[in-house]
Amino acid sequence: MKLSLGPFQGITDAPFRNVFKQHFGGIDKFYTPFFTGIQKDHAKNLQVEEIDPTCNDVETLTPQILSTDAEEILRFAKQCKELGYKEINLNMGCPFPRVANKKRGCGLLPYPDMVGAMFERVFERIDDMKFSVKCRLGYYSPHEIEAIIPIFNRFPLSELIIHPRIGKQLYKGEADVERFKALIPYINAPLVYNGDIVSVESFGRIREAVQPVDQFMLGRGLLANPFLAEEIKGSDCFVTRDDVTINKTNRLHHYVIDLYEDRLRHAGGSPKVLGRMKELWSYLMNSFESSQDAWRKIKKINALKEYEEAVEEIFKYNNLTL
Ligand SMILES: Cc1cc2nc3c(=O)[nH]c(=O)nc-3n(C[C@H](O)[C@H](O)[C@H](O)COP(=O)(O)O)c2cc1C
Repeated sequence: MKLSLGPFQGITDAPFRNVFKQHFGGIDKFYTPFFTGIQKDHAKNLQVEEIDPTCNDVETLTPQILSTDAEEILRFAKQCKELGYKEINLNMGCPFPRVANKKRGCGLLPYPDMVGAMFERVFERIDDMKFSVKCRLGYYSPHEIEAIIPIFNRFPLSELIIHPRIGKQLYKGEADVERFKALIPYINAPLVYNGDIVSVESFGRIREAVQPVDQFMLGRGLLANPFLAEEIKGSDCFVTRDDVTINKTNRLHHYVIDLYEDRLRHAGGSPKVLGRMKELWSYLMNSFESSQDAWRKIKKINALKEYEEAVEEIFKYNNLTL
């Protein structure tokens, strides 16, 4: 059984992935949040830490692109290959109207012919680079995927990750596990389930329902509870350092501080790091007993010192629910 962490634009960047890996186990594979605008070879937006092989593990990281242009996808694949990556992932799941209304992200799902023509051109020249897809059930309707699956099946996708919501739902409502299950016999590519895995219990239920699928992508559940992958894999989440047992609260506290300090170093001490930290806290707060109090404290802060004090207060006065 393999676990990956889904990409989150604005949260799961290279500093996040690296600090996360120093503090927590259980995740076998990561994806970058999507890249766009790969206009030429040696694209400036690929000469960044986010994808630099000296800052990332090319063996366990798959760069993602949001595009409908086969030439751009091939340019991206070529440059990722030069950097040492073995696989790229195409985002066919982004639900935001400004993306999807341009037939990008999950906005591509109602157009199987367009997807077919694009994949023809990609697979003609992608050579030994693996190509995987992350998608939803559809943009407007969960039936759209039924016409897309035969297209996917014509090509040797290295992986198909399905998040069983439709685009119009954004992230609301529930992931439709039953519909995912019904699709399993019709899909040739190695399948990955993604959606609403928030606890060991929900993981167990979903795993049981989607057998024999044994690859799962975690998302908001792991941002809220960074121990989730370890718990799913059977760890008690205590670690021992210098003969001292460190409990979950201390581990979480160290992680939050290290991530903040690492982001600060990267940003040359600029308070703009607060945006990304707040974004993470919007999920993490769910792990505290007085989650609304914790969130209220953090969300209105604009100064580094205030943020640091608020975090200390949260850890001092709020118990974890984990
Ligand atoms: C703020 C935000 C940013 C996201 N960014 C990306 C992204 O860049 N690429 C992608 O494939 N999915 C992205 N996702 C989707 C997640 O990776 C994941 O598929 C989604 O949260 C569903 O899984 P979950 O129910 O376990 O959270 C994003 C989701 C959110 C809420």
